[in-house]
This record gives sequence, C-alpha cells and structure tokens, in this order.
Amino acid sequence: MELERLLRSQGFGSRPECRSLICNGRVTVNGVPCDDPYADFQPEGFSFTVDGQPLVFRKLVYLALNKPADYECSHKPKHHPSVYSLLPRFLLTRNVQAVGRLDEDTTGLLLLTDDGQFIHTYSSPKKKIPKVYLVTAKHSVDDLQIAALLAGVQLNDEPLPIAAAACERISDHLIQLTVTEGKYHLVKRMVAAAGNRVEALQRVSIGGYCLPASLPIGEWLWLEADDLAQLACVG
Ligand code: URA
Repeated sequence: MELERLLRSQGFGSRPECRSLICNGRVTVNGVPCDDPYADFQPEGFSFTVDGQPLVFRKLVYLALNKPADYECSHKPKHHPSVYSLLPRFLLTRNVQAVGRLDEDTTGLLLLTDDGQFIHTYSSPKKKIPKVYLVTAKHSVDDLQIAALLAGVQLNDEPLPIAAAACERISDHLIQLTVTEGKYHLVKRMVAAAGNRVEALQRVSIGGYCLPASLPIGEWLWLEADDLAQLACVG
C-alpha cells in the first residue's frame, strides 16, 4: 500500500494532509526517513513514526484509558472536558468510541475502539460481561447491605431486582462489587437501594482484564492481542 494511503488509514488525515506530512520529512519507516508518498509497503507489521511518535499499522485499535474524575464520556460534554480530549488526534480521526460510559465522577478502566462489533459485544446486556468496581461508601458497609446486594435490590423503573455477581468487603467503607449489566448509574442506584451511598467509584476490571496499576490516571495504552484474550476470559 502507498505510504500516503497507509497513513490515511491510520488516522493522519486526508490524502493531501498525509502527503504533506511525508513530503515535509515528518515520517520515518522502519527507522529511516521516507519522503516519498507513493513508496509501497506491506501494512502487516509496518512500523513508522510521525513527528517522532513510534507506531505500528493497526487495522483496528483497542485502548484502555485510566479515566480521571471530572471527565465526561461524551463528544459533546456539558460540564467537564471530554475523555476524547485525552486521546491524540489520529485516534479521534479514526473515530474511536468509548465502550459504554462511566459517570463523570467515576474513575478507572474505560475501553475505547473503532471496532463497531467489539462495542456491540461488550455493551450487550446478553453477554453478561462482569465489571468490577471499587466502591467507597459514605456509611460503613454492614453484612445486611452486602447480603442485599448479593440477593438483588429493587431499583425504580426495573421490573426485577438486580443482584451483584459478587460483593466483598475490603474495609469498613470500601467494597468490591461485580455487576454484569450496564444500566445508567447502576452501581450508585444499587448501593443506594441497599441503604448506603456511593462516595467514590472506580472501575478496576472488565471481563478478565484488569486496569494496570502502572497506568497513570488520564493516560491510555494499546490493548494488544494478549490483553484482548484476557478481556474475553470471563468467569
Ligand atoms: N455504575 C454507576 O453508578 N456509575 C458508573 O459510572 C458505572 C457504573
């Protein structure tokens, strides 16, 4: 594939924009500067830099973001910056989207991708993908509240009680709660229905994939094949 087209497929703009990046000496291929927009390369395994940033060709992209508080999972945020402002432009050009949403005050693991099928799979309530949250509660969490969360709590507008798949006390005010649905404010509403209140909420895992402790708040990483396999390990 011509270099100009390759860069276009990776989100670096229109063909004229990619051509200009290449002709202005801002692109290297396999460590060597390349200013020929029509140079031909195999996409698979293609490694390049744009303005010094090392990249490899990716047909589809999968990311994990450590979402900070006070960011909205929306392209049109109302009160806070958008999580999309934490991503480089080429990923936005690729139309990377969040897989589901976290509330503006919720922190932790947010997946993003340009793979529509992946978004569908991981957002589908039918798949019952476990999502684990660390919940800081306003009041000390007692055994009755944990039992209620495990047995199922009745939420307004829901036909049936919703139960946590798991719930463990970590300390007086901290529990680890696993849910398999993705309803609006689900964890906050469940904890309120059990007689407590969420003070802080962090998502720490989805499926078998855990937010890496080394990923700083506000930063993202590529999910590679082994991470995706991990993610798909459920139960
Ligand atoms: N449940 C909530 O209440 N908020 C979130 O952001 C995610 C799950």
